[in-house]
Amino acid sequence: MKFDTPATTNPIDQLKAVGQPIHRIDGPLKTTGKAVYAYEWHDHGTRYAYGYIVGSPIAKGRIRSIDATAAKSAPGVIAVVTSDGTGELKKGKYNTAKLFGGTEIQHYHQAIAVVVAESFEQARAAAALVKIDYAEEKGVFDLAAAKDTAVKPKEGEPDSAAGDFDAAFDTAAVKFDQTYTTPDQSHAMMEPHASIAAWNGDELTVWTSSQMVDWWRTDLATTLGIDKEKVHIMSPFIGGGFGCKLFLRADAVLAALGAREAKRPVKVALPRPFLMNNTTHRPATIQRIRIGAGRDGKITAIAHESWSGDLPGGGVEVAVQQTRLLYAGANRMTAMRLATLDLPEGNAMRAPGEAPGMMALEIAIDEMAERLDLDPVGFRILNDTQVDPENPERPFSHRDLVGCLRTGAERFGWEGRIRQPASRREGNWLIGMGVAAAFRNNLVVASGARVRLDREGIVTVETDMTDIGTGSYTIIAQTAAEMLGVPIDKVAVSLGDSRFPVSSGSGGQFGGNSSTAGVYAACVKLREAVAQKLGFNNADNLVFADGEVRSGDRRMPLSQAAGDEGLVAEDRIEFGKLTETHQQSTFGAHFVEVAVDVATGETRVRRMLAVCAAGRILNPITARSQVIGAMTMGVGAALSEELVVDKERGFFVNHDLASYEVPVNADIPHQEVIFLDETDPMSSPMKAKGIAELGLCGVAAAVANAIYNATGIRVRDYPITLDKLV
Ligand code: MOS
Repeated sequence: MKFDTPATTNPIDQLKAVGQPIHRIDGPLKTTGKAVYAYEWHDHGTRYAYGYIVGSPIAKGRIRSIDATAAKSAPGVIAVVTSDGTGELKKGKYNTAKLFGGTEIQHYHQAIAVVVAESFEQARAAAALVKIDYAEEKGVFDLAAAKDTAVKPKEGEPDSAAGDFDAAFDTAAVKFDQTYTTPDQSHAMMEPHASIAAWNGDELTVWTSSQMVDWWRTDLATTLGIDKEKVHIMSPFIGGGFGCKLFLRADAVLAALGAREAKRPVKVALPRPFLMNNTTHRPATIQRIRIGAGRDGKITAIAHESWSGDLPGGGVEVAVQQTRLLYAGANRMTAMRLATLDLPEGNAMRAPGEAPGMMALEIAIDEMAERLDLDPVGFRILNDTQVDPENPERPFSHRDLVGCLRTGAERFGWEGRIRQPASRREGNWLIGMGVAAAFRNNLVVASGARVRLDREGIVTVETDMTDIGTGSYTIIAQTAAEMLGVPIDKVAVSLGDSRFPVSSGSGGQFGGNSSTAGVYAACVKLREAVAQKLGFNNADNLVFADGEVRSGDRRMPLSQAAGDEGLVAEDRIEFGKLTETHQQSTFGAHFVEVAVDVATGETRVRRMLAVCAAGRILNPITARSQVIGAMTMGVGAALSEELVVDKERGFFVNHDLASYEVPVNADIPHQEVIFLDETDPMSSPMKAKGIAELGLCGVAAAVANAIYNATGIRVRDYPITLDKLV
């Protein structure tokens, strides 16, 4: 189904199942331990072997030789696969660094060997016996020092511009120019990467933890140099991904290589200390923002420049993205520059682009409001735009930033805030309130599904879509239940299997809307199949409700309509020109109250509120869970999350959860989420948009602005640790 005209009324609008607060249907499987995660697949009768990864001890240089003699004769060892023994493996499309192989080392902890043994402990012990002879070279590890070497991410591609920024900024009545920094960050999802690989002749099955099943399948085939048709990926349950499981990772490649060598199924998990340096991370940024405005508070000029680094062949952190779209202003410019660094691969993490971009922009907006002596909520409302400011003929599909700010201000009690910083004190605590806009683009991605109706009246949905804890199982079941008029407990959902139709996968907050739209398309076809079976030309006048199909006075149970053989339909939603004619984005507002200890600088978040305008909310329970999780990540970004770079040897020092600090329950006392009641007919037949990542973008700046309001100290260098406040 091609989606290229705005959605009109369709069965989804009944909202009998869609839009309802239904608890996740996979919840009981998870709470009873029956949901099987990647490392846990166990076929009784199969003797699994265990692989342990050996990572490069240097960040840059050459491996002269790997001596596995001692490891091979260690107890329980079945095989040792070293990168100099496999020949040069190819690199898939989506990775920058090689996942295995090669004598040139690209980054610290790049995988160079896997030891396979009868037990995990034996593999780990033997891995310590692998001797590596290397020649270390000096690398470049410091973004600030390399900033002046940075170049355009794509040669020849212009920076974005409209009007004449320089002239307008020069003549602006009120001017602002500041630079902000965000650190390298790690995904730190709960479930580390893990894979089990089993060969059957030349066919490979991998149980793994992947956000994007088809990308993994494609890249694993490419890396191993085998036919994609021979690769079967299973990823039905995922313990968080946050972007780190978008792209094929070393555990899957090494499990496959280990299993081939050991002639046994092999399990490989990345131990937690490998995650930070072996996989990917969010790159650090340096961001300069200039804003010019008239005395009336209207922005006349805005510029955002961002610097980040990556390995050769890598990409830039798109931190200027929101600044191209969020506020009005006739004269504007954004630019990004990429430095070559020899740190581990930088890549997508938790709302790449806007998450770090909003950390800078939304402090700058707060600072500018203060300079103009305007309330920061009012200043944002004053500079709202209903069109893409770089291309004014291009409207937003739907945009209610103003509604989010107004609703939030009222609900949060914003009028009780004292604008003068450091004015409110309770004992040892300085109290402050902060606000930030939320913004994240709405992407849509083609997505396929197959739907079956059997003679018991059970509807089964099959798609390679993943559920990374987000609620995909549930919203997909709701979609099929609505379209076919059955209760949700008559819908079975099977996900994360590469034998199913290729879906959008989970990433970039596009999965919920895109994958359900794919299920919608398949259900439209299944309704047609039912109509044909009953002798109608089409399904237009059929009603699917209460487990029946009806036409006028005629009614028949769906089970009977399905017949003994049942019915099956498959389709794929493809998104057309509406993404070009209309700017599709999601909007919100974050409000935060903090308390800062006047003596120690310790910051405690007291209250958080997010108001979101993101199209139809398919399920308010799972959507709320997404948003409060994202808000929690925002607190981490504001206050604690930072990968510390060893600038001499080029690795992230704090590579575990003891020293890479993410918020815990006690850090997050109170969160509230409000969804504005809206639909976006331009986004898909579901009229929904992305919601998850919106919940993160802006939070850290709202915390920073609250800290400023509490203390009068403006920190522009994240995270805002207490040493920066005393
Ligand atoms: Mo998200 S960083 O696209 O998984």
